[in-house]
Amino acid sequence: MDSIAITGGGQLKGQIPISGAKNSAIKLMVASLLTDEPLRLTNMPRLADTRFLGKLLNHLGTSIVESDGPDGPESVLHTPTIRSHFAPYDLVRQMRASFNVLGPLVARNGQAKVSLPGGCTIGARPVDLHLKAIEALGAQIDLHEGYVYAQAPRGLRGAEIEFPFVSVGATEHAMLSAVLAKGETVLSNAACEPEIEDLADCLNAMGAQVSGAGTPVIRIVGVDRLSGATHAVITDRIEAGTYAVAAAMTGGEVRLTNTRADLIEALLVKLEEAGVGVTRTNDGVVIRRNGSRLKAVNVDTAPYPGFATDLQAQFMALMTLAEGESVIRETIFENRFMHAPELRRLGADIVVSGPEARVTGVDHLEGAPVMATDLRASVSLVIAGLAARGNTHVSRVYHLDRGFERLEEKLTACGADVRRIKGDGSVDE
Ligand code: UD1
Repeated sequence: MDSIAITGGGQLKGQIPISGAKNSAIKLMVASLLTDEPLRLTNMPRLADTRFLGKLLNHLGTSIVESDGPDGPESVLHTPTIRSHFAPYDLVRQMRASFNVLGPLVARNGQAKVSLPGGCTIGARPVDLHLKAIEALGAQIDLHEGYVYAQAPRGLRGAEIEFPFVSVGATEHAMLSAVLAKGETVLSNAACEPEIEDLADCLNAMGAQVSGAGTPVIRIVGVDRLSGATHAVITDRIEAGTYAVAAAMTGGEVRLTNTRADLIEALLVKLEEAGVGVTRTNDGVVIRRNGSRLKAVNVDTAPYPGFATDLQAQFMALMTLAEGESVIRETIFENRFMHAPELRRLGADIVVSGPEARVTGVDHLEGAPVMATDLRASVSLVIAGLAARGNTHVSRVYHLDRGFERLEEKLTACGADVRRIKGDGSVDE
């Protein structure tokens, strides 16, 4: 198992190009199941999660050709026919969002057998809203021995679906299922995340009729078939936000490019409140802090356009060095403070009580061995390690590889001292 060694204390200075969004790319890859023509995705991130999903799609009948095109890394996904409607546990458990193949398989093929994804470290993460939506679209759903069996031999039909609370995954899954249904579907209380709009744009380029994505009401008029298309994956706002926090925490000046400041506005406002310099640019944002101490600010996570839960761990790391007490409330996932005890190992003062973490800023952090527990938690430890005095060793970085492309390379280019230690003990500079 690889780990990451960091010698902290230096400032970050330079430029970081932001990759395509993992959370969007994996839903766009699933959309390729809906057509027998090739779907070309540009600005594709190359990550463990896209590889895991690629394996499942290969199994279902999709060929995937990866290359470096004029617009950067791209993938062409082609599913002439669905070869299997069975998504086995071993392939789904590696990446939860693989579950989203269920609706498209039923929509195109009339049936599917897909493993339930199971829980994960940040919470139980049930899929009841996904199943209710697909059922409302006319599929018969049965659960046996950890598998969902779904059938709609005469195809899916449009429906009115009101989500009891906002779910990104269920909104996307319902969209992916409804585009080929007969008639109109209306999704209310839909998630408004930018990745939802990205998915709608791609589906529309394939010939779907989706309107209202990015608002709480999405209308979908079903079409008989979808065609191939070319679509550029939206920028990864979580990667951008993560490097913005890293720059704020270590000081110095970092320009984030190939991204959009408006997608991380909730974070940028909090950074400004904390005393960080923020300049919004045409293709991203510049983050700078020169010597002044950070001020403690409070944060509540919320669905978009609120403060992203996927940036909560990173912001907590930042607050460990701020002056005063910061209260961080996690409202999306019930168990998303696994990074708190690890940050404490670096000298942070954090008291967790239910959904709330109270962070009292300390004068400095000191390097220590720490363990990554989930994707975003692991990057918060890297950020804290960059700001800490001495050496930090982050183990279990396979979590990090799921969602951060070329992390060491991007940080090293800004002057960080970050090395990957391969599972066999060799060092990847
Ligand atoms: C997606 C993102 C994840 C992000 C999250 C919230 C991907 C691959 N992942 O996850 O990075 O942190 O949105 O922005 O895009 N829930 C149910 N039943 C359901 C579905 C969800 O109870 O059927 C609950 C979840 O347990 C959670 C809440 O709803 O407490 C929100 O989850 P959801 O928005 O669905 O997150 P994901 O789509 O899984």
